[in-house]
Amino acid sequence: MYETKKISVVGLGKLGLCVAACFADKGYKVIGVDIDTEKIEKINKGISPIDETGLSSLVKKAKKNLKAELNYENAIMNTDVSFIVVATPSLADGSFSNEYLEKTLYKIGAVLKKKKGYHLIVITSTVMPQTTEKIVKFLLEKVSGKKCGRDFGLAYNPEFIALGSVIHDFLNPDFVLIGEASKKDGDILENIYKKTCDNKVRFARMSLLNAEIAKISLNCYITTKITFANSLAGICEKVKGADSHVITKALGLDSRIGSKYIRPGLGYGGPCFPRDNVAFSAFARKVEARAKLAEMVDEVNRDQVLRIIHRINEILSLRGRNKKSEQIAILGLSYKPNTPIIEDSQVLSIAQVLVSEGYRVCVYDPQALESARSVLGDTVKYAKNVQECLAGADLGIIGVPWNEFKRINAKKLKKGIILFDCWRLLEGKKGLDIRYLGVGSNKGEK
Ligand SMILES: NC(=O)c1ccc[n+]([C@@H]2O[C@H](COP(=O)([O-])OP(=O)(O)OC[C@H]3O[C@@H](n4cnc5c(N)ncnc54)[C@H](O)[C@@H]3O)[C@@H](O)[C@H]2O)c1
Repeated sequence: MYETKKISVVGLGKLGLCVAACFADKGYKVIGVDIDTEKIEKINKGISPIDETGLSSLVKKAKKNLKAELNYENAIMNTDVSFIVVATPSLADGSFSNEYLEKTLYKIGAVLKKKKGYHLIVITSTVMPQTTEKIVKFLLEKVSGKKCGRDFGLAYNPEFIALGSVIHDFLNPDFVLIGEASKKDGDILENIYKKTCDNKVRFARMSLLNAEIAKISLNCYITTKITFANSLAGICEKVKGADSHVITKALGLDSRIGSKYIRPGLGYGGPCFPRDNVAFSAFARKVEARAKLAEMVDEVNRDQVLRIIHRINEILSLRGRNKKSEQIAILGLSYKPNTPIIEDSQVLSIAQVLVSEGYRVCVYDPQALESARSVLGDTVKYAKNVQECLAGADLGIIGVPWNEFKRINAKKLKKGIILFDCWRLLEGKKGLDIRYLGVGSNKGEK
């Protein structure tokens, strides 16, 4: 049994800081490394520089076990295992850049050169298949002059967390994926997770390469499932009496399908799903195969924005008014609830298209207003709350299923307003005495 007591985490971003704080909270001595001095200062004061559910209290609670710094030497010398969680941004061809990863490997390699004793390097950043073996191992051996498997260990251990519930997901994973250079490396990692997770963890252990392919395959499969549901919604909207939600609920009861990620709404977005789907296709091209299904999923997902715009135009055109005189309220801008992140958010794209088509648009989001402002600028009005956003609107769009939108006060809504609910949050709500339309169903009304 391998007993790890000290862990370093390189890259204290949206994922890395959560990982570091969770380990620290579970009793590990954790040293975090980042290049951002402001972040480091805050963390050392027990303040989270990142907005993520539960992270502020965890960073505060774990302060005694969590130290952050710029210095790799101290972090690598004084810990047994290092998790690398730096960003791997997407390149134009859909693959992931190793720019930040390589910088960290040079620094880690230089410390490994001086270090006595076994040190396990764990790549948690999402990387393209073949990266860990061909680039990470190669660079670490070259810079340190040491041998992987003898002097240091290597593992690929990506996380399947969702922003907004990173801490919960990290501590309660469906399974932990471990790509290992040797059995010893996998055993060390398995032991750390057994002591950290709150649930009874299942492990999938395999080669580095298979784990790399598994990571992007899993997200690619989920994007396929989401897109299937959205395609079905598009079809049902064309057929009087059809309701995609009733159908997908039934499909989800089949254990071969399952009920998660099969609820129609808007297309997927955010910092993981779109790029992992595209990376899967990029990887296939690299090995001279084709991932036609993944390519089509990406295309169909992008089409969802236009499908919604088409529907809105259809609804409003029946009023026979000029677009410029119609005011649209958009509730929600982030790519999903409980996060301020707007990266690849479909509702944000919908706002941009509606503005370009000449509608007057007012937006509100509980967390994402500031980030949205950097994209939408002064092309839209910004409301401080739901009621202010809906006041005066001819059409309201629920674009993100934030919980607070469920509490919309129907009595205060303007007479004649149409509510277009992309997530059918308000379906069946009492006192909703207005025209209410939900994505994915056709009740025959115009
Ligand atoms: N955020 C997610 O939801 C999520 C989910 C699964 C996987 N991932 C993967 O995890 C990785 C990190 O993602 P993120 O969202 O946390 O990124 P992020 O941009 O929020 O954080 C990256 C951090 O790394 C730091 N950094 C950059 N270069 C560094 C260096 N040389 N040394 C030390 N620190 C350095 C940055 O300052 C930043 O704090 C990516 O590969 C991503 O694909 C992220």
